[in-house]
Amino acid sequence: MMQNAEILPATGWSAEALREAMLDSFSDYAIPMQLSQPDFDAMMRERGLDLPSSRVALIDGTVAAISLTSVRDGQAYLISSGTRPAYRSRGLARAMTAGSLAYLREVGARSFQTEVLRNNELALPLYLSLGMTKLRKLDCYRITAPVNMPSIDQRVQKVEWKDIAPVVGQLRDWRPSWKNSDASIAAIEDQFLCLAAYDGSDLLGYIIANPANGAVSQLAVRSDVRRQGIGIALLKALQ
Ligand SMILES: CC(C)(COP(=O)(O)OP(=O)(O)OC[C@H]1O[C@@H](n2cnc3c(N)ncnc32)[C@H](O)[C@@H]1OP(=O)(O)O)[C@@H](O)C(=O)NCCC(=O)NCCS
Repeated sequence: MMQNAEILPATGWSAEALREAMLDSFSDYAIPMQLSQPDFDAMMRERGLDLPSSRVALIDGTVAAISLTSVRDGQAYLISSGTRPAYRSRGLARAMTAGSLAYLREVGARSFQTEVLRNNELALPLYLSLGMTKLRKLDCYRITAPVNMPSIDQRVQKVEWKDIAPVVGQLRDWRPSWKNSDASIAAIEDQFLCLAAYDGSDLLGYIIANPANGAVSQLAVRSDVRRQGIGIALLKALQ
């Protein structure tokens, strides 16, 4: 079914061409995607786009499909897989992923992960058929109303990510998703707003969010001071 398709490393393509192919591929996606070029560039920097392991599928000179991947510390991640609607069901996504995986094995990657919407009936069968397994379920929460708290907690202050990054792992009891990982934050740390609650010099909790889109990457309160309103205070201060 793959007539005329060439599967190539994404090294020769511009960020503009990759974004354009991605937007068309996600034009019928469950979540409407508006991704300006600066947003695309930031997203790829954050997640660590690696062009040599990424693939494009070319048909008659057109980028028909893309598979964008990242590798960090021997772990690989599928940032985005998309086939333009006109070129679907010809085996492009499968062929691109197979190409990526072969390359990733060669460079020593030990795992391959992604996130997929639970009801994505096009992508989920592909990932499962590649041998991927479901590791955990992620939930998304949205806060629309203001957090109900009369004033800002005096213990909360604005900090730099680099100042708290070495110790935040001690406050967490979960592993952030790739997008929300310490490495992803560090890759575009200037774009984040980071707030921390202190008792003297002891870090009690922190929250980190991207003011451009309101997305909270991490929120954690040290286990021995939970249920004392610190999490709410951080959310209030962020709002
Ligand atoms: C998911 C997507 C990338 C698949 O691209 P594609 O090039 O059409 O996929 P392929 O032809 O290589 O098919 C590979 C496998 O995907 C699954 N698949 C693809 N289309 C499917 C469909 N219409 N129904 C069910 N499974 C489907 C199958 O497992 C298929 O393997 P099979 O043909 O051996 O059964 C494409 O549908 C797409 O771009 N969707 C919108 C963007 C998106 O959801 N991306 C993933 C975000 S996590």
